[in-house]
Amino acid sequence: MIDKDFIPSAYINDVKEGKVSYKSPSNIALVKYWGKKENQLPQNPSISFTLDACATTTNISFKKLETPSNDFSFDLWFEGKSKEDFKPKIKTFLSRVEVYLPFLKNYFFKIETSNSFPHSSGIASSASGMSALALCLMDLEKQLNPEIENDFFVKKASFLARLGSGSACRSIEGDIVQWGNHTNTKGSSDLYGVKYPYEVHDNFKKYHDTILLVDKGQKQVSSTVGHNLMYDHPFAEQRFNQAHENLNQLISVFKSGDLKEFIKIIESEALTLHAMMMTSLPYFILMKPNTLEIINKIWEFREKTNSNVCFTLDAGANVHVLYPEKEKDIVFQFIKDELIVFCENQQYICDRIGFGARKL
Ligand code: DP6
Repeated sequence: MIDKDFIPSAYINDVKEGKVSYKSPSNIALVKYWGKKENQLPQNPSISFTLDACATTTNISFKKLETPSNDFSFDLWFEGKSKEDFKPKIKTFLSRVEVYLPFLKNYFFKIETSNSFPHSSGIASSASGMSALALCLMDLEKQLNPEIENDFFVKKASFLARLGSGSACRSIEGDIVQWGNHTNTKGSSDLYGVKYPYEVHDNFKKYHDTILLVDKGQKQVSSTVGHNLMYDHPFAEQRFNQAHENLNQLISVFKSGDLKEFIKIIESEALTLHAMMMTSLPYFILMKPNTLEIINKIWEFREKTNSNVCFTLDAGANVHVLYPEKEKDIVFQFIKDELIVFCENQQYICDRIGFGARKL
């Protein structure tokens, strides 16, 4: 498909008012998206586990205006309070998607949104937030044109979410989603995420992700600034090629269930993401001393017990501790005994692989 396929022709129905709600999860990238081209297109393919507990719930009440307005007309409420400072981001999103949702200026929207995780946890809410918003707007489009089929609905929701935040396109479905063209993944596209289409070994079913909140502060580097660091980065080309190669290897690992190989790919991806930040200009170190303490403890524990626990990182100091269902008791005990001490106020979030967004 190409982007023009998402521009609708005339709608069949006239919808005066209504309300729609979606709950959409966050996701954790295994092969990372870091670096983009124009229009929110990725420089390399990425793949993620969809999460379950970390989610955003968004309700939109909409009412058709007597006459279409010149600008977008909406109010934004976050966790029960009117939130003016979130509005510019939403406005940017609405202007990016307007050509694909030409009804937007015909309505007034009251957008109410809340997260399942604490606001200042250092957990990015853009993936869950933008995917929930995209789904609500798609729902209204489906009311205007009930002939929209499910497959198209899901693709377009992912396509729109991507225009809000790249990683958000991987939050519509579960349990594993790939985004970005890759020769060996059929149906893959730079325009939207697709549910991983190949065999996945039972070892990867019900995978756990315990998120250790090492630094709950505001992100030191916004994702926009971060992705821009990949322009003119001395290692950009090698990195983009490496992501293709890692994804290739992950396809075999998902099939064979080889957890040792999985760990190598996942930890190397996390460290490469941070290495890219350390070697860009300007350069950043986003890990904190406690991030390294945790990584070393995980390595020690693996050495000692032959466990398959591993870590991955986002563009921040928090650590995602990943482990298979079979090892959940022993690893969770290890986390409580040895890792929680490195978290800010001992805070962590227990999450696991989930199955995507749902309508409420
Ligand atoms: C490190 O999706 O937040 O989490 O497209 O600018 O909104 P924007 O970026 P964003 O970047 C996510 C980067 C990452 C890796 C990943 O999720 O693949």
